[in-house]
Formats: sequence, structure tokens, C-alpha cells
Amino acid sequence: MHWMRWTSLDMDKRIRALKPEGEHGDSRPGQLVWDLPVRVFHWSLLALVGAMSATGFWAPEWWLSVHVWGGYALGLLIAFRLVWGFVGGRHSRFASFPLTPGALFTHVRTLVARGRQSHAGHNPGGAWMILILLGLLSAIVVTGVVSYGGRENLGPLAFMIGFEAGDVAGILHGILAWVLLGAVALHILGVVVETRLSKFSLVGAMITGRKPVSENQADPGGSLILRGLIVAGVTAILVLAGGQGMALLPGTGWRGLEFPEPYRTECGDCHDAHHPSLRTAADWRTMMAGLADHFGEDASLEEEAVGEIRRFLEVNAATTFDTEAANRIGRAATLTGRMTGTDYWKARHKAIDSLLFRTKAVGSRVNCAACHADAATGRFNDHAITLPKGE
Ligand code: HEC
Ligand code: HEC
Repeated sequence: MHWMRWTSLDMDKRIRALKPEGEHGDSRPGQLVWDLPVRVFHWSLLALVGAMSATGFWAPEWWLSVHVWGGYALGLLIAFRLVWGFVGGRHSRFASFPLTPGALFTHVRTLVARGRQSHAGHNPGGAWMILILLGLLSAIVVTGVVSYGGRENLGPLAFMIGFEAGDVAGILHGILAWVLLGAVALHILGVVVETRLSKFSLVGAMITGRKPVSENQADPGGSLILRGLIVAGVTAILVLAGGQGMALLPGTGWRGLEFPEPYRTECGDCHDAHHPSLRTAADWRTMMAGLADHFGEDASLEEEAVGEIRRFLEVNAATTFDTEAANRIGRAATLTGRMTGTDYWKARHKAIDSLLFRTKAVGSRVNCAACHADAATGRFNDHAITLPKGE
């Protein structure tokens, strides 16, 4: 009810607030047009997009877990805003957005003529911008989750996304992130131009929620704190429960393996016992046939142990896994048949000082587990990378 909000204001303020838009720069409080949840959403989004850009564009790979958690938070925030667009305050609802081509045209024409405009909620340019930003952000979150599921075999979509689909989504994710930065720049430009022309601080309005508009344009619902909390709570529970439930489904393309005894002990004697998905069945067969001259060492074994190891390696070779390592390293052809000879391996490790591979902590570049805590599982996730300190 309107009158309830007026009881706290004295008569003088009330009369000033009722005056039509006109004199700016006075100290009157204006009318509430942005409910509190939408303002909290706006500034949280700004902070999160900043943090996500930093971890996405500049941080090294092992920051991925921070990026992923931020991504889930971003997904929640966007889900909240989409719901709030239907149940939120008057000017937060999508139905109130002036989206007709005519409105946009008039808006631009007035802008070009440097004429004054009055929009209690979003102006047509701003409304379109918000839909574009929300669309871009949704697409970025979705491609992020798809690529996480496909490339890393983790997250809510790991159960249904293969490596190739995840890889394509990852490339799209990067492109969309740049497009988003462009859209954000445009948004800021719009706010600056609009602020200068209207001589009224739009940023201030997004903080206080108030704008100098007439009373009938105010949001009759007030700050909507309780409704915001309920919508945020319900959205969070649904999204998190759904996401967590899906993440528990068995992933495609990866399975746990038990290394048989002779493989673990005999082949793990001089270096890590490598995950079988890192080479093709043909490569393993060739290697197991030439153990007497194994990279300059004699690694020969009893006939029986050779047979058991070879079967294990062949049955679980690269084509039976759909992980990043199996696709990029295991299935890749090399002249030498070595995983460390693939273009992908070389590209991924070229930034590492070659001396580090020879330190005591590592020993050789074939000791993948020195830096990849999950090497024995064949996953090679970004989270699990740590560089040992060189000596
Ligand atoms: C006597 C020591 C020794 C034993 C035992 C041994 N290896 Fe090796 N292995 C080596 C050496 C040395 C290299 C080359 C390391 C380097 O390049 O730094 C190597 C390299 C490899 C590589 C290549 C990694 C790459 O760069 O792609 C694979 C795969 C491999 N060994 C598998 C096996 C298997 C399977 C067994 C068991 C049947 C085995 N090794 C047993 C010494 C050994
Ligand atoms: C001295 C440490 C070290 C050793 C040893 C090492 N790696 Fe890495 N590896 C790294 C680092 C660091 C990265 C991340 C590089 C980057 O930022 O792209 C990486 C990246 C990777 C990736 C990409 C991970 C992803 O999800 O993007 C794969 C796959 C990989 N390594 C496989 C291997 C294999 C297989 C071996 C053993 C034959 C190996 N690495 C040995 C340090 C190492």
C-alpha cells in the first residue's frame, strides 16, 4: 500500500517528491524504482564477472577450481535474475521492459538530438542491453559447464558430454567471454552518455534504488527484501540439488582402473606406471615386444608377466577412454610412439624449464605424477597440477 510508505515522510518531503521531474540536483530522496534484490544482483554480478575474467583470461590452469566455483555462483545469480524478471519488483520485471522497435527508435532519436528523456525503469537501450548481457552470460555459463564436463570429465554434465563436444564448447566459451567484455564496455558507455545527458547519476540510482520520477512511477512493492530472500533461497536449492544430483551420475569416457600387480611393480620400477589411455593398443604392443631394448635400458620380464601387462594395456588403451589426455596424447600419432613426443604434450609443457624435469623431485619428464597428482587415474585435471620446487 502506498500510504504506508508515506507515513514516515514529513509533509514537506512528500510534496517535493510529488513534483514532476524537472529540478535536478536538489536533495530530495526521489522515488524507489529499483528493489533491493535487483541492486544486490547488479553489484554482485559486476564483482563476479570481474573475478571470472581475471581467473579465466589470466590465471594459470590450476586456478580452474576457483573459476569453476565462481561459475556456479554466476549460474545461480543469473538463474535468480531470470526468475526475478517474472516475480520481482515493478521495474525489474521483463514485462515492464520497453522493448518495442518503436521505443528503441524514439530513444535513439532523442539521444542523438540530445533531448531529455524520462524513464522510471530501464530506458529502451538499457533494457535491450540487459537482455543481451543476460543471454551472453547464460551462454557463457552453459558452454563453461559443457566444456568442464567434456574436457575434464567433471561437473553436472560429465555424464553426457564427450570430449569433442566439450572441446568445441570450450572454444565457444572463450569467444563469448570476449563478446561479453565488449557488451559490458557498451553498457558502461551507455550509462556514461545517459548520465551526462540527463545530468542525473544512474550509478547512484543503482545504489540507492531511487530516481527523481513522479510517484506513480515508483515501485509500489518497496524494497522486496523478504521476497528476494525467498526467491534466492528456492532458486539456489533447486539449482544446487539438480546440479549436484547430475554430477553424481557416472561420467562418460572415464572409468576407474586397478593396475595389475606386475604392471605396478615391474613397470613402476624405473618411472611411473603410466595410465594405459596414454597410448594406443598398437603402440603398447610394439613397446611390449621390445622390452630388451627399452629406451636404452633392459626392461625384459618373464613371458607370463609380459602377457598379463600387455593385455591390461591393450584392453584399456586410448580409444577406450574419452578424456582430454586420451584424445590429445593417447590417440595422437607420433614418430617415436612416445606420449612426450606428441605435439599436444610438447605444447602444454614448453613453458616448463627443462631443468625442472631433471631435479630429484621429478627425475624425468615421463614421471607425470611428480606434477600431476591424478596421473595414475588418467584424468590429468587442471586442479591436480602442482609444480615441485626445483633444487
Ligand atoms: C630399467 C628401467 C625401466 C623399466 C623396468 C621400465 N622402463 Fe619404461 N622407460 C625407461 C626409461 C629410461 C625411459 C625413458 C625416460 C626418459 O625419456 O626420460 C622409459 C620410458 C617409457 C615410456 C615412454 C614415456 C614417453 O615418453 O612416452 C613408457 C610408455 C614406458 N617407459 C613404459 C614402460 C612399461 C610398460 C614398462 C614395463 C613393461 C617399463 N616402461 C619398464 C626405463 C624403464
Ligand atoms: C614438471 C612437471 C610436469 C611433468 C613431469 C608433467 N607435466 Fe603435464 N603439465 C604440467 C603443467 C604445469 C601443465 C599445465 C600447463 C598449462 O598451463 O597449460 C601440464 C599440463 C598437462 C596436460 C593438460 C591438462 C589440462 O587439462 O589442460 C596434460 C594432459 C598433461 N600435462 C599430461 C602429462 C603427461 C602424460 C605427463 C607424463 C608423460 C606429464 N604431463 C608430465 C606439468 C608437468
